[in-house]
Amino acid sequence: MCGIVGAVSQRDVPAILLEGLRRLEYRGYDSAGMAILGDDGSLQREREVGKVQALAQALEKSDPHGVVGIAHTRWATHGVPSQVNAHPHMSGERLAIVHNGIIENYQSLRERLKDEGFEFSSQTDTEVVAHLIESCFRQSGDLLSAVKAAVAELHGAFALAVMHADDPDRIVVTRRGSPLVVGVGIGENFIASDQLALLPVTDRFMFLEEGDIAEIRRDTVRIWDADEQVAERPVSRFEHAIDSADKGEYRHFMLKEIHEQPRVIQATMEGRLTDSRVLEQSLGTEAGSLLAGIRHVQIIACGTSYHAGMVARYWIEELAGIPCSVEVASEYRYRHHVVQPDTLFLTISQSGETADTLAALRQAKEAGFRAALAVCNVPGSSLVRESDLVIMTQAGPEIGVASTKAFTTQLTALLIFTLALARHNGLDSEKEADIVRALREVPRQVDQVLSLDGRIESLSRAFMDKSHSLFLGRGAMFPVALEGALKLKEISYIHAEAYPAGELKHGPLALVDSEMPVVTVAPNNALMEKLKSNLEEVRARGGELFVFADGQSGLHEEDHVHVMSIPEVHPITAPIVYTVPLQLLSYHVAVLKGTDVDQPRNLAKSVTVE
Ligand code: AGP
Repeated sequence: MCGIVGAVSQRDVPAILLEGLRRLEYRGYDSAGMAILGDDGSLQREREVGKVQALAQALEKSDPHGVVGIAHTRWATHGVPSQVNAHPHMSGERLAIVHNGIIENYQSLRERLKDEGFEFSSQTDTEVVAHLIESCFRQSGDLLSAVKAAVAELHGAFALAVMHADDPDRIVVTRRGSPLVVGVGIGENFIASDQLALLPVTDRFMFLEEGDIAEIRRDTVRIWDADEQVAERPVSRFEHAIDSADKGEYRHFMLKEIHEQPRVIQATMEGRLTDSRVLEQSLGTEAGSLLAGIRHVQIIACGTSYHAGMVARYWIEELAGIPCSVEVASEYRYRHHVVQPDTLFLTISQSGETADTLAALRQAKEAGFRAALAVCNVPGSSLVRESDLVIMTQAGPEIGVASTKAFTTQLTALLIFTLALARHNGLDSEKEADIVRALREVPRQVDQVLSLDGRIESLSRAFMDKSHSLFLGRGAMFPVALEGALKLKEISYIHAEAYPAGELKHGPLALVDSEMPVVTVAPNNALMEKLKSNLEEVRARGGELFVFADGQSGLHEEDHVHVMSIPEVHPITAPIVYTVPLQLLSYHVAVLKGTDVDQPRNLAKSVTVE
């Protein structure tokens, strides 16, 4: 949610910052801006509403030069998307700031600063911070002390980067609740809210911790922790391929990421499986002792990651025989809950920075859970650093706002985890071997589904002029239906609802008519006969059915029934494979409708505010 990038160098930085913003645009894209400390000692600011490209065009005209600068791409929280609300914000002509997150007490600070004589030109909470730091700077003449003093007054979650023309050789940054990373260069240093922004200029990073304040100079980075003690943060190297932020031959990141799934699912399995077993040690040296006494699993996540958690519940209860609860983080964190003894707290997140998921984890640490396990895709993210045990998915950076490869790699990691947990709870080795073999088949099966792309594209035409749609599934395919509906609504803006098929006659059947496409994921499993009756209920009401099923299902193409044949898969791994055709369907509907596939309206990739 919003992206920050900054540089202190000996070379011109505007082009570096602009490329950083392009790479961060997935985080927010309603306006973008940059402030550069010019050679004449003045601050030059450029801000534009819309995407980073609009800022690039403005910069072509103004052509700023300078070796110190900060930049931002915004997803509006306080104040509409507009030029005055875009970052960087300034206090007078000498201080510029960029900010991610939310300042909760900004109204009272605003009133106080107005009394001090500061004038406000925006509706943002960020401008309040700019004036507050300037007010402190006027007393100390030192940017670092000014930021320290100002931050002590702020309530909320934020990452800030500040520069001052009267303290010109450094950027001062701080984080509380929003991610911030320092990129370490040679004779230059950088900051960003995501390391992806800085990959063209460095592959060495220091992750700031909660409450850290840092001073970034050309040759040095100095860090103080939340207790104002000098702190060292280890430098780590970025491991993913450098081309992760390029679309390559694909028209959209989403399509590229859908097609990457066979490879990244394979990568997520690598080193964790033999031909017949899960290598428990590969989940961490502590994994064995942590999993041994677990009697209950509490899963917490948001959005797509929550759907992955819902699938995992079916697996955990079926294979490990352990009760499992799943809840969205935004609900869980604000209600009273009872923690059963020996409960594992399991968070799932692509970004590892989702505010609600992180808040739930922090609460859980106080609440008496046995241990906190995270399934996450971003190394070094807050969730990874704050959990006892981590299973990394190997999806690589996911740029499309609609989550695709993150979901299927989460499912892969969750199934591996389930098998490890189940072994402590009596899963016999034959059953484990059967599922491991099935899992090893998944990359090939996903590849087969990808080859159906042309046919799925043809099917997608039937959705173009529709306003509503219904997705049905039973058992572990119900969360797959939920995920399919989420994909369709978020990128094509068609209203899509998912139901367990058995719930149809309890209400949603009333919606079904010829204008309502009904999508069903129907692998041949124990619930097939029941599902068939549900489909008949839809047909009898004139509904148009789109069924993804395998050859054994006995479902055939008929009037108003379109059947897309999916390879035969093991019932346990079916949720992973059946997700893929639904991703392709949503993608093609969105392309036909001409929506912004990678950056759908009103959304941002990483939801680091509540
Ligand atoms: C789905 O396509 C969305 N990107 C969204 O629902 C996402 O899964 C959710 O915001 C959670 O994000 P996380 O996995 O990074 O925590």
